[in-house]
Amino acid sequence: MERSTVALILLYISAVSVSSGQPVLLDSAEGETVTFHTAVRNMQILLYNGDVIGDVTDGKVKPTRIERFKGRVHWNSSTEFFSITDLKMDDSGKYKAQSDDGRAVSEFQLTVHTPVSKPDVLQEEDHCTLRCSVERGTGVTLSWRRVDGQVLNRPSPKNAPVSQLVTVTEGTYICEAKNPVSTERDSITMGKDCKSEFFTLH
Ligand SMILES: *[C@@H]1O[C@H](CO)[C@@H](O)[C@H](O)[C@H]1NC(C)=O
Repeated sequence: MERSTVALILLYISAVSVSSGQPVLLDSAEGETVTFHTAVRNMQILLYNGDVIGDVTDGKVKPTRIERFKGRVHWNSSTEFFSITDLKMDDSGKYKAQSDDGRAVSEFQLTVHTPVSKPDVLQEEDHCTLRCSVERGTGVTLSWRRVDGQVLNRPSPKNAPVSQLVTVTEGTYICEAKNPVSTERDSITMGKDCKSEFFTLH
């Protein structure tokens, strides 16, 4: 073998056996399954906020003593990855997959989200002010833009219910509700009676 090949292999081995320290950020929706993908394949223990919730012995995951995770922690013997099914909101937190001897560790920060519901667009009394509201969803950004792409607000994420007002002129407007697991939108077309010169945000 050439020396450069040997060096590459050694570099690879040291790269996968050292934990990077930064957790992998994962976003999932309520009711779905999350899989903890790891670079090394001999991960046999899964911890949630420090408690063991999965322990693989003889190729099988032993039932967890932690009530809320019962029947939901799985280990795939061909991929050797842990997964958690039927996610609940309070499964959000810190997960750690590690090898039996604790030498290989992968950390994950999971956030479980409620998907956004479809936004509703309504005209306020002045006719040219639009209200977009969304009833359900966590970490929702609610944004308004014109159909030609012009963005009218720069929202920061909030938990629903949230609403956003915008004053518009003639044209088609799209309200989009978005979070890391879902996107929904609604639109409205305004006629010539809305002629104000500027867009005003409230
Ligand atoms: C294990 O993972 C493989 C590859 O992703 C998949 O085809 C298989 O269905 C999985 N097995 C189980 C029991 O989920």
